[in-house]
Amino acid sequence: MKVVEIERPGGPEVLRIVERQRPRPGPGEVLIRVVAAGVNRPDVQQRRGLYPPPPGASDIPGLDAAGFVEEVGAGVKTLRVGAPVCALVNGGGYAQYCLAPAVQCMPIPRGLNFIEGASLPEVFFTAWNNLIWLAHLADGETLLIQGGASGVGMAGIQIARHLRQATVFATAGSPEKRDVCLSVGAKVAVDYRGAWDDEIRKHTGGAGVDVILDGQAGPKTQRQLDLLKMDGRLVFIASHEGETAEVNVRSLVRRRLTIAGSTLRPRTADYKGRLARELVAQVWPLIEDGRIKTHIHQAVQFHQVEDAHAILDENRQIGKVVLVLDPAIATTVPGPMQPF
Ligand SMILES: NC(=O)c1ccc[n+]([C@@H]2O[C@H](COP(=O)([O-])OP(=O)(O)OC[C@H]3O[C@@H](n4cnc5c(N)ncnc54)[C@H](OP(=O)(O)O)[C@@H]3O)[C@@H](O)[C@H]2O)c1
Repeated sequence: MKVVEIERPGGPEVLRIVERQRPRPGPGEVLIRVVAAGVNRPDVQQRRGLYPPPPGASDIPGLDAAGFVEEVGAGVKTLRVGAPVCALVNGGGYAQYCLAPAVQCMPIPRGLNFIEGASLPEVFFTAWNNLIWLAHLADGETLLIQGGASGVGMAGIQIARHLRQATVFATAGSPEKRDVCLSVGAKVAVDYRGAWDDEIRKHTGGAGVDVILDGQAGPKTQRQLDLLKMDGRLVFIASHEGETAEVNVRSLVRRRLTIAGSTLRPRTADYKGRLARELVAQVWPLIEDGRIKTHIHQAVQFHQVEDAHAILDENRQIGKVVLVLDPAIATTVPGPMQPF
């Protein structure tokens, strides 16, 4: 099978398409014939040598995929050969065939094609894991998502709006990106280079917000904490702009604030399987009735994988970049046959 290998840490030019042996599914796993695969920020970090795969995971980049079940491993009762699925995978998505734990496979929401199906898992798992499980976003709370036009950001805005009736604020780096945040449900979107905290404070009548989700971190942490209400939660999902911060612990203690962080990839299949079941039960119906949308920035052919990474390197994407492995059927909506 053809796969993308990272030859050495570096720019998009280190991505090479090579031949490898097709893997066989172990107990509890399936082999997916990949039609389309998501391109996510962690893949870029892995390519740069900053995010090595956890022990036992594939060294091939790619954290989500959509396609057909090609082979099932021992003990798999929920999926059959030929079923169309989208899946969160533990690496290996940039390949013609990819292994996935069966519990991390989900039906492609009705009406979506394979490209759209591949765009969902990594960003919706991450948004749900951090907003719902970690930050405990409650009904009617206020939320700030920094990087609102990212794949995770757009998923988070929509989950918060539709499943928690939250009032959502977002930051994004260009007028076009801010418009997209508004179009998926943010009440206000501001430029993070200016007085973003003052602007949001003004829009909340001085109250601030209950939860902040951020993937950049860096020097603005104290401003984020100052913007939180009593019992507020600040959740980091990456630290692209700086790994350390100085914070006022006294204000943290007095206002009962929580700073948390998490990484999805090294979590167990059991944990990811529980996330998958919640997403299918609670988010997939809203995707199927059109209330929650996936925003495809660009579908890029497999042999142009360097271009796909260049888009992310330059932060040009709004929403998702997806790699197309099988262009003949990538835009096809799978039939009613569903795996569960
Ligand atoms: N912890 C986890 O489990 C987990 C899993 C997946 C993703 N993540 C993180 O979640 C965030 C969103 O992921 P994604 O794949 O949806 O991202 P993405 O689509 O690549 O978007 C990230 C956005 O962040 C903004 N940004 C600002 N400064 C940046 C910088 N120094 N480096 C990179 N981006 C910068 C950019 O938008 P502007 O133009 O508006 O600046 C960029 O479009 C990323 O930080 C990613 O690392 C975490």
